[in-house]
Amino acid sequence: MKIFLDSANLDEIKEAVSWGIIDGLTTNPTLLAREGKEPKKLLKDISKVISGPINAEVVSLDSAGILSEAEELIKIAPNIVIKIPVNQEGLKAVKLLSQNNIKTTVTLIFSATQALLAAKAGATYVCPFIGRLDDISQDGMSLVEEIAVIFDNYDLSTEILVASIRHPIHVVQSALIGADAVTVPFKVIEQLLNHPLTDAGIKRFLDDWEKLKK
Ligand code: G3P
Repeated sequence: MKIFLDSANLDEIKEAVSWGIIDGLTTNPTLLAREGKEPKKLLKDISKVISGPINAEVVSLDSAGILSEAEELIKIAPNIVIKIPVNQEGLKAVKLLSQNNIKTTVTLIFSATQALLAAKAGATYVCPFIGRLDDISQDGMSLVEEIAVIFDNYDLSTEILVASIRHPIHVVQSALIGADAVTVPFKVIEQLLNHPLTDAGIKRFLDDWEKLKK
């Protein structure tokens, strides 16, 4: 399973990349706005650190606007993927971009039908938002399961990039389902790695080693 970092913070990005486990990156308008920097300049700086796909989201609501934003965004770096919210105008843009071999991620997916239509329009990735479904007492992971079965039934090449991940169990469940990729906030990536028994084990080894010196 590919692991993308869900962040626009350069320090976090550099740190996670140095661990050798990051396959790509997702940003969104909220994450970019949080950094308070000029978004295109920040994406350019990010592209010097991330060699895999970098998702940059459009904010236009009409397909013409989405296409002209996409035109500008792909100039930033060859690995930019255009992230587009799922709706009628979004699908129109996805279709045209995919015909021109420009990679797209269809985002804000909350139903299997949205994922199916995005795949049919030619999306490279679909992003089901599982945490936000959990937030309203729906089972986000069931959506990932449904999409996985549908894409498998019809050999659809669109990849499932699970988003709105809030904790390590979301990552484990995505991997068990066989999702192609997850996009994970830095804090959750740290949680994936840390274990109190590992810390205690290291401490005990070092304490015992010290005793040898005495
Ligand atoms: O990149 C989009 C996504 O992962 C959002 O997550 O936690 O704001 O629902 P969240």
